[in-house]
Amino acid sequence: MIETINAVIEEVKAIQKDRSMEPEAFRMKYLAKKGLITNFFQEFKSVPNEQKREYGQVINTLKNLAEDVYGALKADAGSSAAGTRIEDPTKRTESLGFGQKHPISSVRDEIIEIFSRVGFDVSEGPEIEDDWHNFSALNFPEEHPARDMQDTFFVAKDPDWALRTHTSSVQVRAMEKQQPPIRTISPGRVFRNEAISTRSHCMFHQIEGLYIDKDVSFADLKQMIQYFADSFFGKDTKIRLRPSYFPFTEPSAEVDIYWGLENEIDYRITKGTGWLEIMGCGMVDPNVLSACGIDPEVYSGYAFGMGIERIAMNRYQIPDLRMYFENDIRFLQLFESGL
Ligand code: PHE
Repeated sequence: MIETINAVIEEVKAIQKDRSMEPEAFRMKYLAKKGLITNFFQEFKSVPNEQKREYGQVINTLKNLAEDVYGALKADAGSSAAGTRIEDPTKRTESLGFGQKHPISSVRDEIIEIFSRVGFDVSEGPEIEDDWHNFSALNFPEEHPARDMQDTFFVAKDPDWALRTHTSSVQVRAMEKQQPPIRTISPGRVFRNEAISTRSHCMFHQIEGLYIDKDVSFADLKQMIQYFADSFFGKDTKIRLRPSYFPFTEPSAEVDIYWGLENEIDYRITKGTGWLEIMGCGMVDPNVLSACGIDPEVYSGYAFGMGIERIAMNRYQIPDLRMYFENDIRFLQLFESGL
């Protein structure tokens, strides 16, 4: 018996030398449940007692050797065929790099940083809002056509609850909670029932700002916008304010920055004027202050609001607003450098 095992050991050593066997065939012959080695182990009980020790040693030698040879044969098979065989198909072949911030998050954080340098805090509020905070407190009278300026998604046909159409609702909550001085910005997602196109989407991000104190004037507002334009778009950025209308501010204005008209892209994004609209702003309407429990005889304030997608689109020359929401890795990788 022991001689038989020794003969098998020699056989396996020969295979080890010339690697002449497929690993699976080797396993079946020697190591599998019905293989030779298992067989030798099963015969152990019928071996006479005085031979048991030696018998045990040789089959263990054979078993260890066979396992080594099987491993070597497998490794050979893996490295042949030009390494195309992967043992574990779920194993990663290369490490994944770190991700990077979405351009909307980068721009949002940069804007927050610019305003927090001059004392603005950040406030947040719910995305599902009641009529009071989204409209009524902001001087949108019921049935007033101004409500149509922002097409609204109502929740479950209940006219009192809707997805907020702007983050001005957060500012109402800030004013209700605290007396001036208030200096806060509210970044967040907003929703409007608009057709999806290269320039608009039913969901986008805004940052709105609010400053309320004694003797806040339009000059203060203009200075803050100039500070923002210089910080975000570059020193000495030219700005201009055009009269506009919002129910919650009086007077109201749209802000343009001078972008330039040097090439075809400038023509396209500024519609041939060189000026680019970046935000709406104005002095908070006294009706809004009263509605939020702030005395308009004592306090005044300004507000402004901008769309983050638009601002980021201009800065990075992104041609289609829908790209922000598709999570296409090739688009996101463009911003890998950390912006
Ligand atoms: N809430 C306005 C909008 O969504 C933006 C705005 C904010 C305008 C504050 C003026 C003052 O269009």
